[in-house]
Amino acid sequence: MSEIKVALLGFGTVGKGVYQVVQTHQKRLEAILHKKVRIVGILVQDETKQRDIQADILLSSNIEDILQISDLDIVMEAIVGVEPGYTYIRKAMERGLHVITANKELLAHKGYELKRKAQQHGVRLEYEAAVAGGIPIIRTLKHVLRVNETIKVEAILNGTSNFILSTMRENQAAFVDVLAVAQQKGYAEADPSNDIDGWDAFYKLMIISELLFGHQPAWDKVEVQGIRNIQYEHLLAAKSLDARMKHVATIEISGGKIHASVEPILIPKSHALYAVEGVNNAINVTGDVVGELSFQGPGAGALPTASAMLEDLISIYELKEVSSIPTAQTFVETNQLQEEEWL
Ligand code: NAP
Ligand code: HSE
Repeated sequence: MSEIKVALLGFGTVGKGVYQVVQTHQKRLEAILHKKVRIVGILVQDETKQRDIQADILLSSNIEDILQISDLDIVMEAIVGVEPGYTYIRKAMERGLHVITANKELLAHKGYELKRKAQQHGVRLEYEAAVAGGIPIIRTLKHVLRVNETIKVEAILNGTSNFILSTMRENQAAFVDVLAVAQQKGYAEADPSNDIDGWDAFYKLMIISELLFGHQPAWDKVEVQGIRNIQYEHLLAAKSLDARMKHVATIEISGGKIHASVEPILIPKSHALYAVEGVNNAINVTGDVVGELSFQGPGAGALPTASAMLEDLISIYELKEVSSIPTAQTFVETNQLQEEEWL
């Protein structure tokens, strides 16, 4: 059976999750793709760290070593920050490799350039894991909600913030203690400031904006606040009003203008975001035809993120295959074309 050769860039929470699921779900991947998915290279920063990986996988801190692996098909990027990921993804595309990334900070800054670069080199760029963890929201917005003009998105996009607010309220726990648990569970970034200062949710909202409206609003016009200063007393006060404090990212278009904000706000009991607890994310999408839709699920952590990245991988190869299987009609037309060419 032929193989899809994958290189992982980054082997932290996300990279390890992908590695694990490729092992546990290999049979399923084979059944869907009719190919084996094989991880052949892993890029890390520190080669001396002890890693539990198969002996035949090339482990390196040098991107050239990884990209030179023969017959590599795809890179899955899960490094933190804009660089070095941006440079590495560009290099990969220049060599004709498909790219899947979980890196929202990179995409918010450089998504537009990377999408153009992918087109230029005839490769795919997929990024489901960059927004809302395991919820397939990117694919839904891109491929499913087509006739609808989306007029508003209201969402909980940072799993760490939602986990902290829910756990502080339920357990009367201190902010720093719950943040430490979120880090230990792999929800929060190693440097959690983007999570608790609102930037992580902001980056995700900018990715959504670019997807839905073709561009992002001016960043300095977006109100961005995190949850760093929220205390148990604030959560209690919300409760006394029959409401909950939630970290909410909102974007809407009206009069041709995009309005966006990312901030902790009071959510009343009647609202769809009220019951979204723990590490879950949720996205309420208002389309002009369908009305309001709600999507909810795990927004961070190794397995939900790996799930999104491997669904991306399937979409790259499955769509390719689907488009190459002729329907009865195209089969007839193709035959006719070939016959005409022979005449
Ligand atoms: P992480 O646990 O901190 O892992 C980062 C990995 O990147 C490590 O393996 C590290 O190498 C490697 N790395 C860092 N700098 C590097 C460099 N200069 N060159 C090569 N490798 C480098 O981070 P993570 O939680 O897996 O997140 C990875 C990405 O996915 C981030 O962009 C994050 O925002 C995004 N994401 C995370 C989640 C989540 O739930 N954690 C969910 C969705 C998206 P060493 O192992 O040698 O240190
Ligand atoms: N740190 C991020 C969060 C990971 O807590 O939502 C998922 O993108």
